[in-house]
Amino acid sequence: MTNQFNIAVSAADAVADTEFLTALPKAELHLHLEGSLEPELMFKLAERNQIELPYASVEEIKKAYDFTNLQSFLDIYYQCAGVLIHEQDFYDLTWAYLQQCHAEGVVHVEPFFDPQTHTERGIDIGVVIKGITRALKDGEQKLGISYGLILCFLRHLPEDEAFATLNQAEPYMEHFIGVGLDSSEVGNPPEKFSEVFAEARRMGLKRVAHAGEEGPVSYIEGALDYLDVQRIDHGVRCTDSETMMNRLAAANMPLTVCPLSNTRLKVYEHMSQHPILKLLERGLCVTVNADDPAFFGGYLLANYQSLADNLGMTRQQAAHLAANSLNASFVGDEQKAVWMEKLAVVCAG
Ligand code: HPA
Ligand code: ZN
Repeated sequence: MTNQFNIAVSAADAVADTEFLTALPKAELHLHLEGSLEPELMFKLAERNQIELPYASVEEIKKAYDFTNLQSFLDIYYQCAGVLIHEQDFYDLTWAYLQQCHAEGVVHVEPFFDPQTHTERGIDIGVVIKGITRALKDGEQKLGISYGLILCFLRHLPEDEAFATLNQAEPYMEHFIGVGLDSSEVGNPPEKFSEVFAEARRMGLKRVAHAGEEGPVSYIEGALDYLDVQRIDHGVRCTDSETMMNRLAAANMPLTVCPLSNTRLKVYEHMSQHPILKLLERGLCVTVNADDPAFFGGYLLANYQSLADNLGMTRQQAAHLAANSLNASFVGDEQKAVWMEKLAVVCAG
C-alpha cells in the first residue's frame, strides 16, 4: 500500500513556517554522528588531544567545505574525525548533536557511526560505542529523546573488514539496533556486502544502506534484493526509474532523504530541483534528514525550512513528512501511536 496520511491539518495549503516545523514531533533517521562535528568542537578536541589540524581557524575550515561531489566531502570528513580519540570526545560529539535536536523538536534519533574510521586509527571500538551510548542515554533521560544506534560499514573497504568490525562490536550488541552501509558509493555496490548483512540479520539486527545517492537505480535494487534492507538511505536516484518508484511505493519502503546534503554534494544544483515533494505526492514514504549537518549547513529543522523556502512545502506536506519519519523508525507501534496523537494536536493548532 502506498504511503497514506490521514491527520487533519489546519491551514493545510499554507507554506509551513518555522514555528510549525519546530513544533512537529520528528524523528531523524539519517545522521552520521561524525558529520555533526562542528568546527568549534573540532578545534577544541584537537587542542585537548594535541592533534594538529591542517586548518588555522574555524573560518578556514568552513571555506574548505566547498564540495563538488560525495568523495570531495568524504576526504575532509574522515580527516576531521581524526580529532576523536577518547570516550569523552565521542560523548561530547553526541551530546552536542542531541542538544540541537532538543531545540528543534526532534523526539527520536537513529544515528549512524562509522567504527572503521576510528578502529583504523587504533581506537578501540568499545571506546567509541561507550562514549556515544552514554550521551544517548543522557539524551533520553534529560532531554526525552529516544534512540536506536546504527553501526555503518565503510563500503570502500572489503567485506572481510566489515565482518571483523561486526565481530569487534558483538560484545556491545545491546547498544546498537542495526547496521548500515556508507562511504564511497559508485564502484561499491550493495552485493559486495551481502554476506555480512545476512549475518547481521541472523544476529537480529535491522538493516539499512545508502543507495541511489550518486549511484544508479540498480544499487537501490541491490540493497533491497541482496541486503534485505528495511530502509534506503538517500534513494533519490529512484526518479530515474518508473518501475523502481512504483516498487518503493508499493512496498512502503522508507527513503531517508537529505535535501541540504544533496545540494551541497551537487546531486542537485539547486534545492528548487529537489524531487522529495514529488516523491511524497507519488505515494513514497520519504523522510527528511540532515546527513552531516556540520558540513552541509544545517540540522534537521534547516532541512525542513529549506523545503518550505525553495519548494513551497505546505503544512500538510511537512506534517506528512514528519509522520513518515516517526512511522519509518524502528520503534514499536505503541510508541508510534503516542507520537501520532501528539502530531495531530500540533496539526490541529
Ligand atoms: N554518503 C555516503 N557516506 C557518507 C555520507 C553520505 O551522504 N555521509 C557520511 N558518510
Ligand atoms: Zn549519509
